[in-house]
Amino acid sequence: MTTLITNIGSLLTNDPELGTLTDAAIVLDGDTVAWVGSAASAPDADERVDAEGRAVIPGFVDSHSHLVFAGDRTAEFNARMSGQSYTAGGIRTTVAATRAASDEQLDANVRRYFGEMLRQGTTTVEVKSGYGLTVEDEARALRIAGAHTRETTYLGAHVVAPEFAEDPAGYVELVTGEMLDACAPYARYVDVFCERGAFDGDQARAILTAGAARGLTPRVHANQLTQGPGVQLAVELGAASADHCTHLSDEDVKALADAHATTVATLLPGAEFSTRAVYPDARRLIDAGATVALSTDCNPGSSFTSSMPFCIAVAVRDMGMTPDEAVVAATLGGARALRRTDVGHLAPGARADLALLDAPSHVHLAYRPGVPLVSAVWQGGARAC
Ligand code: NIG
Ligand code: FE
Repeated sequence: MTTLITNIGSLLTNDPELGTLTDAAIVLDGDTVAWVGSAASAPDADERVDAEGRAVIPGFVDSHSHLVFAGDRTAEFNARMSGQSYTAGGIRTTVAATRAASDEQLDANVRRYFGEMLRQGTTTVEVKSGYGLTVEDEARALRIAGAHTRETTYLGAHVVAPEFAEDPAGYVELVTGEMLDACAPYARYVDVFCERGAFDGDQARAILTAGAARGLTPRVHANQLTQGPGVQLAVELGAASADHCTHLSDEDVKALADAHATTVATLLPGAEFSTRAVYPDARRLIDAGATVALSTDCNPGSSFTSSMPFCIAVAVRDMGMTPDEAVVAATLGGARALRRTDVGHLAPGARADLALLDAPSHVHLAYRPGVPLVSAVWQGGARAC
């Protein structure tokens, strides 16, 4: 089954040769892009869609989310908006609610947020565990996530489990031992919240190294609340991404720039928005030569948004990114953070994941903040919404 989408006003391909095409068309064959070019020379297909001059972009690649959870943290958000500051400790509220939920409830939640994401143009989603913090609950979270995406991350090291409050070393032993054994079969990546109130550099190194020895690719929650060792550790271990990157020294920026082909700086503006914190400086990272991704960090504590367009708008308004840079970071950047070469761009051979915008160009994603511009989405070549 082939589909021709034609009369595209602006087609962002993220392909170095193709660039952004005007008066364009694209042909999908099964789950793959078969042809991209000018509408005037487009081949025929089984089905024909008229884009009526609107823009098409690659589906967003949301490379950082925490969707396996129950409950919400409205009270904590209210307290923050009344002046309290965000700390890692709030995670334990969600741990209690998640442990108490059934598999069916957790699965229904993941399904709900995946639906929200899809309707906003997201076609690839990474999901972390991290609200179970027991062997069984972490493995269960990854099993449930794995039913919805292949991009699953073991985050047993989100915070020290409440049962180990007096014995953090014992918890690290569990995370690198029995819990890793139970989780590794369901995960592609291993992550650690390297932060004051969570795990220090030595603990994070032990956990990431143990995960890597089991074939999991490291990624790190790094330098979110303080200028800690997370970024340097991510680069040293060849992690796929250093996420947050809010508080960076000049050495951290240089390390990320030097590692641009290996470690992506993933910026999560929803977290700073929802914790009323200072945004990361995307301009500084891009100018230094780092590879940057944008992602939602969707979770009930620090960033309860599932919207990549929202993150793009904030990144452009407050983080020094141009609209082009922000949309590329939300698509190709996310793909690079997940080490995927089949998504995040639209060229022959790529996966047929794309969004049709009710706008003449992708710049409108930042220019028209808060407006639901995604009017249709194809995922794996099939019309998904
Ligand atoms: O990425 N930083 C650690 N983890 C999440 C927050 C999780 C929570 O507060 O529940 C984050 O912001
Ligand atoms: Fe996170």
